[in-house]
Parts: sequence; structure tokens; C-alpha cells
Amino acid sequence: MASERKATLIIEGREPVDFDILSPVHGNDCIDIRTLAAKTGLFTYDSGFMSTASCQSKITFIDGDKGELLYRGYPIEQLAEKCNFLEVAYLLKTGELPNPKQKVEFETIIKKHTMIHEQMARFYQGFRRDAHPMAVMVGVVGALSAFYHEAEDFSDAEHRSISFNRIIAKLPTIVAFAYKYSMGEPFMYPRNDLDYTANFMYMMFGTPCEKYEPNPVLVHALDTIFTLHADHEQNASTSTVRLAGSSGANPYACISAGIGCLWGPAHGGANEACLKMLEQIGDVSRVPEFIKRAKDKNDPFRLMGFGHRVYKNFDPRAKLMQKVCSNVLEELGLENDRLFKLAKELERIALEDEYFVEKKLYPNVDYYSGIVQKALGIPTTMFTCIFALARTVGWMAQWEEMITDSEYKIGRPRQLYVGTPRRDVRALAER
Ligand code: ACO
Repeated sequence: MASERKATLIIEGREPVDFDILSPVHGNDCIDIRTLAAKTGLFTYDSGFMSTASCQSKITFIDGDKGELLYRGYPIEQLAEKCNFLEVAYLLKTGELPNPKQKVEFETIIKKHTMIHEQMARFYQGFRRDAHPMAVMVGVVGALSAFYHEAEDFSDAEHRSISFNRIIAKLPTIVAFAYKYSMGEPFMYPRNDLDYTANFMYMMFGTPCEKYEPNPVLVHALDTIFTLHADHEQNASTSTVRLAGSSGANPYACISAGIGCLWGPAHGGANEACLKMLEQIGDVSRVPEFIKRAKDKNDPFRLMGFGHRVYKNFDPRAKLMQKVCSNVLEELGLENDRLFKLAKELERIALEDEYFVEKKLYPNVDYYSGIVQKALGIPTTMFTCIFALARTVGWMAQWEEMITDSEYKIGRPRQLYVGTPRRDVRALAER
């Protein structure tokens, strides 16, 4: 990053102050204001991080205007076509794609960690059967920190690597167990003869009564979904993981915090909300009514799966997801699926509507992912768990990057206080 260029801050009645302008490899230049408070006594106010880079990162880059997403420099389209999810996980973790030997080694390590502690399996019994599986995930993943705390020294790179592998390996088991628990079905223990995603489908849909062989087309589709969700720069949940981790907290606790954040309908919960919305619309004839509602300032209704803070042209993941959706529906003989047709029509109409065009609102990754997952047999409440499973790879890579950043500091935002001015407490009888 070069810093020859300066930005000058001029405040009436004060000496001008210079700040370095940092140039990234891709993306917007950044004014380095870290010394602002020390030099001027001023803070900046940017509550939704509209103009603030919270860290430097080498992992993922998004060009919102071009609709481009790169993991470690590689376009998402190429990764989705040429690599499986574990290769992408290796890439996000190490910075490079694995060669054939490294790929086999990595897969073998991950397979060795797929089981969870038997006591952890009993932990599920404490939840109500109707608990939302995201609530179960927040609890169970957070509880991993109780199983692997003393044993791991997170200042040691080797220990951090083990915890990365461990959590990536266990997440499918944890998610599948949450599903089985909600169904009242027995847990299916991992099968290490299967690949990562096929094994996950086996643990989700297999039962002890019947032989279950995962369909390779559907496995490939779910694997692609994982790849598309693996990382996405400094979004709300990733920033949550980084902020939690900046205190030196146990990574499993940090991932649990990220899962909690992802759950919200404005973030990872959008795929669940989107499918509910499509059900609510019900028929193509009602699309104009809902488009009208989405545009009404007095109506809280929004088109779920539409809009993105960064993508202002298109979300490349949404395009890939639409393709995955078509493939899955074709494989299952559901080409005429009512919701898929409705979703395509809603997308077509919204993209022609002046309101959506003007505000640059396009379908995001969550728009079609609910339809695909429903077709795969995944219940609506599990959608965000699938997202969390995949995103854990990105969260762990970002956590590792933060821990090893020489400029790493505990995250401590400042505030613009607008509350009651200082006052004195009166005795109870005088209040
Ligand atoms: N439907 C209707 N109007 C919308 C929508 C939408 N989905 N999204 C944004 N707008 C409008 C807003 O009302 C606002 O209008 P205004 O300027 O007249 O006030 C304008 O577009 C900008 O919206 P903001 O909410 O300010 O944009 P922001 O960048 O903060 O929010 C967000 C992005 C949260 C994704 C938003 O578009 C949204 O709520 N979308 C629906 C939920 C969703 O799909 N979330 C998934 C995001 S992707 C992910 O997390 C994986």
C-alpha cells in the first residue's frame, strides 16, 4: 500500500491536517484516519460503516459496480465451475488452491475430524424439539469452546490450523444433528467414504432403516451453494466474528457470535424470508401488488432476496445460483415448479420497474437459494444453517488473518453521545 498521496482536512480556525491515502490492490482508496483523534480530538461518525474500511484483508474482493467477486484473486464463477468446496476452503485458509497431493491430504485431515464428542451429541437433548436450528447452532458451536479451550493455544499457528480443520469438519455433523433432533430421528454418524458434501447429505437425509446413496447432481448443486457462500468480505457476520475475536476470544465462541448475526433477516436469514415471501405472494397475478408494497415508504414490506449494500449492478452469486436452481429442478423433474416460475417473474418485473432500477436493487444470492434448498429437501428453518456451515470457512480465514495482522488491535468503536447531559442522582424521596 502506497502512502505518498495525502488528504488534507481543513477545519475552520485550525491548522490543516494531512492524512495518508492508502491504495489497495483493487477497490477504493482509503484515507488513513487512525491518527485523527490524536491529531484533532475529533472522531468520525459512520454508524453503518457506509464509508469505513474496518481492516485490511487479502481474502476476498467485491467490485459492486462490476458485479465481481474474487476469493484470493480468483473469480467466483471459475471457482464454482472448476473446484469443489473443500478446495475453496483450502484456498481461503492458505491463500492458494491445493495441488492434487495437498487436496488429498486436506480431505483426509477433514475426514478425521468429522465426529463430535459423544457428550456434545447429548447436549442437543437440552433444546426443545421445536427450537429454531440456528438457535441450536449458536449454542452447540459456542459449546465447542468448552470442549477445546485448554487444549489450544491460539497464539500458536499450528493450533489455529487444527481449530480451523476441526470446525470445518464438524459443522456438517452439527447442522445435520440439529436437523435430526428437530425431526426426532436418530443421529447419523459421519461416513468417511463419502466426500464432504455427500456425507452431509447422508447425515441429513439418511436413516438407519434404509440405504441412502446421495444423488451426485444434487451433491454437486449443494457443494456449489457452499462455495458461493464461503466468504463475502467484511459483511455484518464476518465483522462480528472479527470484533469478537479481536478480544482474543476462543474462535468457536467467535463463530457462534457470527452465526447469531447471520440469523437476521437482513443478512443470512433472507433466504428463509424470501421463500416465505414467495409463498405469501402465491401467484404471478399478485406480483404487482407486492411490488407496489415494496415501494411504499409506509409499508415495512421489502422484496426479500433483493438489494445489497455492495452490489449495485448484479450479484454474481445470484446468477450462478439461478443456474444451480435450474439444474436441480431439472434433475428432480420439477422444471415447472410454481415458486421458481413465480421467482423468475417477480425478478423480471422488478428489474423493469423504475424504483428498483433507480435504487440499483438486484436479486442477491439468497433469492434463488431457498428454492434450490427446498427442492433438495432441506426445510426452510435449516436454510440459514446451510449458509452458516459454508460461511464458517470464510469466518475462520478472516479470524486467522486478524489474529496474525501486525496492526491487530482490539476493536473499539467510538460513539456520538446524544443522551441526557450529566446530572446528579436525587435521593429516592425527592424523585
Ligand atoms: N425492497 C424494497 N426496497 C428496498 C429493498 C428491498 N429489498 N432494499 C433496499 N430498498 C430501498 C430502501 O427502502 C431504501 O430506499 P430509500 O433510499 O428511499 O430510503 C434504499 O433501497 C436503500 O436501502 P438500504 O436499506 O438503505 O440499503 P442498505 O445497503 O443499507 O441495505 C439490504 C441492504 C439490507 C440488503 C437491503 O437491500 C435489504 O433489506 N434487502 C432485503 C433483505 C435481503 O435480501 N438481505 C440479504 C442480503 S445478502 C446477504 O446477507 C447474504
